[in-house]
Amino acid sequence: MTKYYDFKTEINQKELQEVATFLREGKLVIFPTETVYGVGANALNPKAVDDIFKAKGRANDNPLIVHIADFDTLKDIVETPTEMEQTLIDAFMPGPFTLILPKKDCIPDNVSAGLNTVGIRMPEDKIAHELIKAAHTPIAAPSANLSSRPSGTKVSDIKDEFDGKVSAIIDGGETKIGIESTVVKVIDQVPTILRPGKITPEDIKEVVGVVQIDEHIFKKATGAVESPGMKYKHYAPNAECLLVYSDDEQTQIDLVNKNIKDNTIVIGFKEHQDKIHASEFYVHGSIHNYDEISHNIFTLLREVDRKKPDFIIIEGVKKEGLGIAIMNRLIRSTSYHYIEK
Ligand code: TXA
Ligand code: MG
Repeated sequence: MTKYYDFKTEINQKELQEVATFLREGKLVIFPTETVYGVGANALNPKAVDDIFKAKGRANDNPLIVHIADFDTLKDIVETPTEMEQTLIDAFMPGPFTLILPKKDCIPDNVSAGLNTVGIRMPEDKIAHELIKAAHTPIAAPSANLSSRPSGTKVSDIKDEFDGKVSAIIDGGETKIGIESTVVKVIDQVPTILRPGKITPEDIKEVVGVVQIDEHIFKKATGAVESPGMKYKHYAPNAECLLVYSDDEQTQIDLVNKNIKDNTIVIGFKEHQDKIHASEFYVHGSIHNYDEISHNIFTLLREVDRKKPDFIIIEGVKKEGLGIAIMNRLIRSTSYHYIEK
């Protein structure tokens, strides 16, 4: 049975302790972070970690990231970071940032899917932080969604996917950022973005002077990849989807209009609502506000999918700043059906 906890307006300390105890006992708990909801378990308990893979239907060669609440725990679970890694930690933790580091033996092999590295994240969200602290153990937590579905950014979207499969669900309202953390691994002295997020390439470059973006961010992965998650279908609605982008606004509007078929829903900019001739139009945000689009996109994909359209057309954004992360998710949610002119 799943117990529900409402921490939307405030954290109930007694209930928080109860949920922390579930985690210590090896049970699964869904909790909010500033990026997306996570389905968490005690990262030091291989049986509990295995249950996460089962609950999500996740391939067991796709490693989990480990969430911590303080830097002492970091020392216990990973080897001493290099100077550059430490600079990144100082700059971006806590926050929407995951750093891949060489793991110590206490991290079970199923967490890291057999790799000798593990992703570490220190959420800044208050509920996540207090829960991890109260659990007194690092927490393995992938995004709360069935494998291949859009990540959960509010409880009503993921309730049906996990009801009965987890011991607790904490409702903290809609997550602030809406897309998952930036995943970075320092490779040959260069911080390499394996998954883009709210922390942008520019943010990283500003701190350490160099940055690179893995070539698979916008491309389908074939063969060996740095991050196993790149191989898998992700963020996908059930309907067929098309992503459309042009640097020229009018060309983008024309492209959308040209591709509309019967029973098509368009997801696009609020500024284009009257210019795009779809029977149903959903706003993902303003052309001038990528934070708004990032916040809305996953829940919107789910909402539109529930309408069972035959076709979904999504307006893309410029691949710049947070736009890189938005386009990475949209390209994958449309299964690489992408037109750019
Ligand atoms: O914002 C987030 O990161 C959320 C919240 C809950 O913290 N979590 C999340 O976890 O998105 P997940 O498991 O859905 O995504 C983690 C990504 C996957 O693509 C995985 O392949 C990659 O990180 N990853 C994990 N460990 C890795 C490792 N050792 N080396 C390379 N990539 C790794
Ligand atoms: Mg995920």
